[in-house]
This record gives sequence, C-alpha cells and structure tokens, in this order.
Amino acid sequence: MKTIGESRWVMKLRGSGPGPLALATEFLALRAAAAMGLPVPEAQPLYLSPDFPWTIGTDEFDGIVQRSGGWNLGIAYIEDAATASLHDILGAAPHFLTSLFDVDRALGNMDRSARNPNILAHGGTFTAIDFDACLFLRRLARGSVPATFPLPPGHLLEGTMVDGAPRDLDPQVLTEALREAPDQWTAAIPCGRDALEAGLVDLARAWNQRH
Ligand SMILES: Nc1ncnc2c1ncn2[C@@H]1O[C@H](COP(=O)(O)OP(=O)(O)O)[C@@H](O)[C@H]1O
Ligand SMILES: [Mg+2]
Repeated sequence: MKTIGESRWVMKLRGSGPGPLALATEFLALRAAAAMGLPVPEAQPLYLSPDFPWTIGTDEFDGIVQRSGGWNLGIAYIEDAATASLHDILGAAPHFLTSLFDVDRALGNMDRSARNPNILAHGGTFTAIDFDACLFLRRLARGSVPATFPLPPGHLLEGTMVDGAPRDLDPQVLTEALREAPDQWTAAIPCGRDALEAGLVDLARAWNQRH
C-alpha cells in the first residue's frame, strides 16, 4: 500500500510472479471495464524509487520490491471493503451483473469464480477487482483476435440469466490506456506497441460487431 497525499493505493509490483504483462493487462482491463460501466477502482502507473528503503516483510517480499524499481500499477484502495459473497453478488443491481458479464466476456477474464469472486462489497455497493488473468492482451500479442466471446469456464455467472443489452467497447479507451502504459510493462511483448495497438482496435471492433 502506498499513500500519496490523502489517497491510498494498492501497488501491484512488476517484480512479482505474474510479471509486467500482467500489470499491462490489468491496467488496460480496468480502463476498459470503467468505460463499459462496471464499477472498478481507479488505476494509474506508480513509480517506485529503485532504492526504496523497504524495512518490513519477508526476504522474499524484499526481493520482489528490489526487482520492482520503476513503474508499477497503482489501484485506488477502497476503505472498509469486504469480499462479496456469491449470494450478495447475484442479488446486485441488474446493471452491475450485466456489465460484469460483458466485461469478463470481452476481455476473457479467467479469474472470477464463485469461490474467488474478486468483488469487493462496501457501503452497500460492489466494486470488481483483479483483472490480471484476462486473456485478451496475451492473445492479441500472438496476433489472435477472438471471433466469439463466450463466458470463461468456471465464471461465477455461469448458468445465470443476465438481462440487458451488451455494452460497446470504445477502441480509443484501449489505445489511450496503451499509450499511458509504461514501456517497462510492454517491452517484453514480441509484436511491439504498434501491432498491439492495432490489435486492440480489432478486438473492440470484433466485440462491438458480435450482436
Ligand atoms: N482496490 C482495493 N481496495 C481494497 N482492497 C483491495 C483492493 N485491491 C485488492 N484488494 C485486496 O487485496 C486482495 C488481492 O487483490 P487482487 O487484486 O485480487 O490480487 P490477486 O491477484 O493477488 O488475487 C483482494 O482480495 C482484496 O482483499
Ligand atoms: Mg484476487
């Protein structure tokens, strides 16, 4: 957790297991999700000084911090949040369920099961978190644009009827987020930034044409 002025941020570290591509994935996904009407925390790149004097935690965590000097992902911390239960989530307002259903299909989110919903409950509302297991970026990096958008297997909304018209995905939201994503996150993507940007536009078009 990092406090900047009055605001507190969860920091996802580039040097942790999932690595830099996971940060780019989560950052782009959070921007896309917000634009599609799903309540998600604000996200922005945060800089960690390479000589950050870490003094708590295990040696293993210290190693992760050492490897994370530079740009990491900041996610606005939600105070007093609890993990939402499946029961609560299924009773959420229809627009929350519809946008969750759409965002997770559009982005191929593999990490939202009944056991691990990755949804925070706070003050009578819900916020969706944890998008680093979305497949869209890894697929686009291989040149693969999905033709169909099924609900990922094991998703908590499997078997649930969800009302409402699918939301479009604005390609500009994705391309602007990519431009904001630090090179330290995208350097390892073999196809390069230009091809990835074109892929993001193709993905948004494919999603917007699916109905
Ligand atoms: N923005 C946030 N505000 C408050 N708590 C958070 C926030 N993001 C994550 N958490 C807490 O940290 C846990 C792990 O975060 P998550 O994004 O799910 O990462 P992981 O990939 O490790 O599962 C969450 O289950 C939640 O308890
Ligand atoms: Mg999680």
